[in-house]
Amino acid sequence: MPATSLLSPCDLGLIAADMRALDEVIARRLQTDVVLVGQVARYIITAGGKRLRPALLLLLCQALGYRGEQRFNLAAVVEFIHTATLLHDDVVDDSALRRGRPTANQAFGRPASVLVGDFLYSRAFQMMVEAQSMAIMGVLADATNVIAQGEVMQLMNMKDAALDEQGYLQVIRSKTAKLFEASARVAAILAGAPPELEADCATYGQALGTAFQVIDDVLDYTGDVSLTGKNLGADLREGKITLPLILAMRKGSTAQRALIEQAIETADCSRIDAVLEVVAQTGALQAALEVAAVEAHRAAEATRRLPDGPHARALLKLPTALLQRQC
Ligand code: IPE
Ligand code: IPE
Ligand code: MG
Ligand code: MG
Repeated sequence: MPATSLLSPCDLGLIAADMRALDEVIARRLQTDVVLVGQVARYIITAGGKRLRPALLLLLCQALGYRGEQRFNLAAVVEFIHTATLLHDDVVDDSALRRGRPTANQAFGRPASVLVGDFLYSRAFQMMVEAQSMAIMGVLADATNVIAQGEVMQLMNMKDAALDEQGYLQVIRSKTAKLFEASARVAAILAGAPPELEADCATYGQALGTAFQVIDDVLDYTGDVSLTGKNLGADLREGKITLPLILAMRKGSTAQRALIEQAIETADCSRIDAVLEVVAQTGALQAALEVAAVEAHRAAEATRRLPDGPHARALLKLPTALLQRQC
């Protein structure tokens, strides 16, 4: 599942060399004398992953004309922060499958996952200092903090069938979109972009990241495990209410709403078939895709002021490709 399954082969070619350089930095910066740290970190990082956040940073650097070496360092930083959140998230969610493999918590235990997640966060912070930019450190420190708050907000919302679309969006903008936003903003800062262009980049990342998570939440109900590498129905099993359920409850009859409410409040996965039927009958998945499409459109609009060229055009196409993603 490489990066960039979301970029066309031609667009991927634009950053292929950069992605190889990124992988070298990642491998080098995972080195440590502590054997278990290396084992766990390599286990999850070499399992693949789309490398979407670093790809975004690298594409934007190129679009904005920045060719400095720091782009590889910072692309690795955002991938390390992302990977740390996944290690912690799989412990919190008690997940069994990630990137088509048993999660690190399954393979190495929960303590190792939490502690290696801490290693990756702190390695990322060591590396971001090397960029010698207070602005970049500020963006990444804020993003990391907002992600943590998003995960805690989501925890507070567990099994709460009253969660509405606005509350849901607040969580996903924090836990997911913020790192996309930060990746894009870092590229703009590296390139010395003027403030309005930096703001466009941030908007692009935020909208793309929001659409990305909405699609992820749809795939939790409809995806093919051999493509997503994650188990189906995991959100309901955790008692996590996402957009497909919120919309199904809004559109459904009283009986349909009651069925979903009960499934959420008891995190009752045995009712998943009945819940799926209601989700299908109410058109909730299509409605969720429409929400994602609005965000994707907002991202595409934000590319208007980028200097024209193949990189800007690849960035323009990315939101649409993301709406169709299966993995
Ligand atoms: C997974 O992100 C976590 C979410 C925000 C949904 P990705 O789907 O980008 O994960 P990998 O890195 O490709 O495995
Ligand atoms: C992913 O969230 C973790 C973060 C965005 C911090 P989810 O729990 O929704 O995603 P998956 O399904 O485990 O990848
Ligand atoms: Mg999870
Ligand atoms: Mg989670």
